[in-house]
Amino acid sequence: MKPMIPSMGGRELGPVFNRFIEAMPDGLDVVEVGSWLGAGSYELASAMAEHGHKDSVLHLYDRFTAKGSEVRKAAGTYKYRVDGVAPGQAQPIKLKDGQDTLPIVRDFLKGIPVSVVYHKGDIRKLAYTGKLIGVLVVDSAKKERDFCRLMKTLEPRLAPGAVVFFMDFYFYKFKKNTGTECQHKYVKASGKYEHLESYENLCVEVMHYGK
Ligand SMILES: C[S@@+](CC[C@H](N)C(=O)[O-])C[C@H]1O[C@@H](n2cnc3c(N)ncnc32)[C@H](O)[C@@H]1O
Repeated sequence: MKPMIPSMGGRELGPVFNRFIEAMPDGLDVVEVGSWLGAGSYELASAMAEHGHKDSVLHLYDRFTAKGSEVRKAAGTYKYRVDGVAPGQAQPIKLKDGQDTLPIVRDFLKGIPVSVVYHKGDIRKLAYTGKLIGVLVVDSAKKERDFCRLMKTLEPRLAPGAVVFFMDFYFYKFKKNTGTECQHKYVKASGKYEHLESYENLCVEVMHYGK
């Protein structure tokens, strides 16, 4: 049975991930930056297994350490609605500040027949040595400098036609002068991204990358 993992958008986007992973050419990798408790990771891995992407690897980047408000979000006691628009209630998870969350995420994903590489550490120092990326989900690196560094590292590894989920696109767009409007600004200046779909209720923009 599917686990009801607390989610900040990943589980809600499951059917959307599924469609784009179905269309992804074989042999490309999938990358999620900011996995939290693995809600989106679970959806990505399930879609990869369902559509037979046997040669693809799912790369998950996070500090995998419970911290501050994320502890309260996991427990469902924060003003943020843990379940958002997803059908069904997430299972609250009790975490201690500083707790290693990697065993929890591994456990959620263990039954899915997909190769997963867990990159535990600071996303601001992220390095990538996987294959070309077919689907990229960016749900961390909130500040402009960190986000641009991240894109500088990952963008050369995007396959032509890759699909990129900018998970905070509309949040940043609406919060003017906070120094966090970077996703919107970045894609506009780059000229290499084309709109595919928007999920403004989740603050998400899905874009097509072309060189
Ligand atoms: C918005 S949450 C991800 C939510 C997840 N994608 C979902 O749908 O449920 C962002 C994640 O990025 C992680 N994170 C934030 N800054 C980080 C950093 N500098 N290095 C590593 N992880 C970081 C947080 O710990 C958190 O798990």
